[in-house]
Amino acid sequence: MSNKILVISASLNPASRSRMMASEVFQQLPDNADKEFLDLRDYDLPICDAGACYSHPLVAKVQAKVKEADCILVAFPVYNYSCSAALKNLIELTGKAWEGKIVGFVCAAGGHSSYMSVMGIANSLMLDFRCLVIPRFVYSEGSSFSAEGLSSEKVKERLKELGETGLQMMKALLPTAVV
Ligand SMILES: Cc1cc2nc3c(=O)[nH]c(=O)nc-3n(C[C@H](O)[C@H](O)[C@H](O)COP(=O)(O)O)c2cc1C
Repeated sequence: MSNKILVISASLNPASRSRMMASEVFQQLPDNADKEFLDLRDYDLPICDAGACYSHPLVAKVQAKVKEADCILVAFPVYNYSCSAALKNLIELTGKAWEGKIVGFVCAAGGHSSYMSVMGIANSLMLDFRCLVIPRFVYSEGSSFSAEGLSSEKVKERLKELGETGLQMMKALLPTAVV
């Protein structure tokens, strides 16, 4: 086991707020952590068709990144009280690579009321792939951001805590963890 943490940004919006949160959580992880940032904007992935898509070279690339990680922190936009189609598509494309991962969630929404939107994807990862879902997630809406970016100290603190919890869970669960 490598004790690797993968931070995924699953918004395709160039001005994404969840990407700002993903960057923050990534930066807050210790410099010596084995960490990697995967931005779905950098991967023109096919839509899952349960067939030919699995032979696409980019699918193999993202699948390898998911597989290599022990802990995955996923940042996504809330769309229609759920995660972005880009995230759902990634999970459909990479499927079993998620098996047994420690997974945490970060989400950006337009309003306060969609905070349960994380549950669909959390349940699916937990039940389909036996992921261990970190029992804290970071949810924020527009008031946490200024023109310069993520401005809320409270959200920054919560992102730091999420990363720390991911590290602690790796340490507790992986016999070889040195984090
Ligand atoms: C298609 C679409 C659906 C949305 N659905 C919701 C929703 O159900 N609940 C909500 O609070 N915000 C919703 N929003 C607002 C987004 O969650 C918000 O703009 C957020 O910042 C998007 O994340 P991003 O900036 O990382 O792309 C929606 C936005 C779009 C474009």
